[in-house]
Amino acid sequence: MSDVTRKRIAVLISGRGSNLPSLLGNELGGDIVVIGSNKAEAKGLDIARDAGIANFVISHKDFASREAFDAALVAALNEYRPDLVVLAGFMRITTPVFTQAFASRLINIHPSLLPSFPGLHTHARALEEGVKLHGCTVHFVTPELDRGPIIAQAAVQVDDDDTPDTLAAKVLRQEHQIFPYAVRLFCEDRLHVDGLRVTTLPKSIHPVIATGAARV
Ligand code: GRF
Repeated sequence: MSDVTRKRIAVLISGRGSNLPSLLGNELGGDIVVIGSNKAEAKGLDIARDAGIANFVISHKDFASREAFDAALVAALNEYRPDLVVLAGFMRITTPVFTQAFASRLINIHPSLLPSFPGLHTHARALEEGVKLHGCTVHFVTPELDRGPIIAQAAVQVDDDDTPDTLAAKVLRQEHQIFPYAVRLFCEDRLHVDGLRVTTLPKSIHPVIATGAARV
């Protein structure tokens, strides 16, 4: 019998899928039911196949507009009835067609301490700006790029000898800590959103779900 309290999670990637092992290796309070990509060559798809998880590719190059691609993506994801859609290195700017379809159940990980450094090349930009702390953010996705309610963040120290690559590696280690944590909070219905502010509710004790036998 399926557990109705467990969330169905869809994950989208475009590349290595470096966040997948931490998502697959931690208890999320839900199950990753599909991993999708806009790139057939995304290495992360091998992780999905090895784990026996359903996967699909929809190439953005096959569509005339961002909206048409997003509509196809929404349709493909909806076949898996996701409660939560997780962007884990999904390198596409999405349109409201996508963000509205999964409003309040769409989260992203971004390699900076938002609202600093939205967009690309965050590690190089952090070094250029001379910040002493850098990090990563898990946030709800809204139509505005890299600016949704923040669920979790982790900071790393920027050292004098850091390069964009060393900084990226440090930040990635933190991403692998906070991403499963944030997904789990969502799956446990513990996130309360008020404007841009997310507060974490205490863990509730779920009532015991009646079994089929008890219901007859
Ligand atoms: C991570 O840095 C994440 O913050 C960003 O994409 C990176 C993961 O990409 N959004 P990949 O799957 O390792 O290629």
